[in-house]
Amino acid sequence: MNPQRDHPGADMQGFVRELAAFVGLTDDDVALIRRTAPIVLQHERAITAALYEHFLKFPSTARFFLAEDGSPDPQRLERRKHSLARWLRETAEVAMTHDFVYYLLAVSLSHSHRQHGPGGKVPPQFMVGAMSLAQTAFAGLFRDALDAPDALDATVAWNKLLLVHLNVLLLGYFLPQPAK
Ligand code: HEM
Repeated sequence: MNPQRDHPGADMQGFVRELAAFVGLTDDDVALIRRTAPIVLQHERAITAALYEHFLKFPSTARFFLAEDGSPDPQRLERRKHSLARWLRETAEVAMTHDFVYYLLAVSLSHSHRQHGPGGKVPPQFMVGAMSLAQTAFAGLFRDALDAPDALDATVAWNKLLLVHLNVLLLGYFLPQPAK
């Protein structure tokens, strides 16, 4: 990839592979993520529900999930919980296939480029903030389910992977916005 000219979207798998190597996401980390995935996935409903409850507490993020009368829109929330649960399940597989990395880029574009009713587009700082919330939630699950050294190793491995994802989720924000 020519860093001067090409957007990473031109070779997503190469971009993700290089970044995974850069953050030191090793084969052992990948194995550990897959081994500890059930701990995360068995709490999938609780994690997604807590995340959206958190979004509803802050006006800047609640606005994406409100009905016209200003109350939380249960249908929209349920759809978003399903999307997040899918991302969570696929993340746990650590399958950096061509399809998966372009799926992540498409998820990025739905936040950076699509208008979501009165909320508009999702500001990038909340993508970073949401990933921080995910890191905190996962660390808590590992703390409760594993011995301290294993919990620390699992948290470190998942953190590397989550920030590789976050990088992809932010790529859309570096692309030009369509003319109004
Ligand atoms: C860790 C960060 C996040 C992840 C992994 C994530 C994941 C997803 C996924 C997988 C979708 C479905 C995309 C599609 O079908 O194209 C989605 C859609 C959406 N997300 Fe997120 N999300 C994150 C953060 C946020 C934040 C912080 C907000 C707003 C506060 C938000 C609001 C939305 C909205 C409004 C949609 C609907 C998109 C549409 O229908 O086009 N997301 N998200």
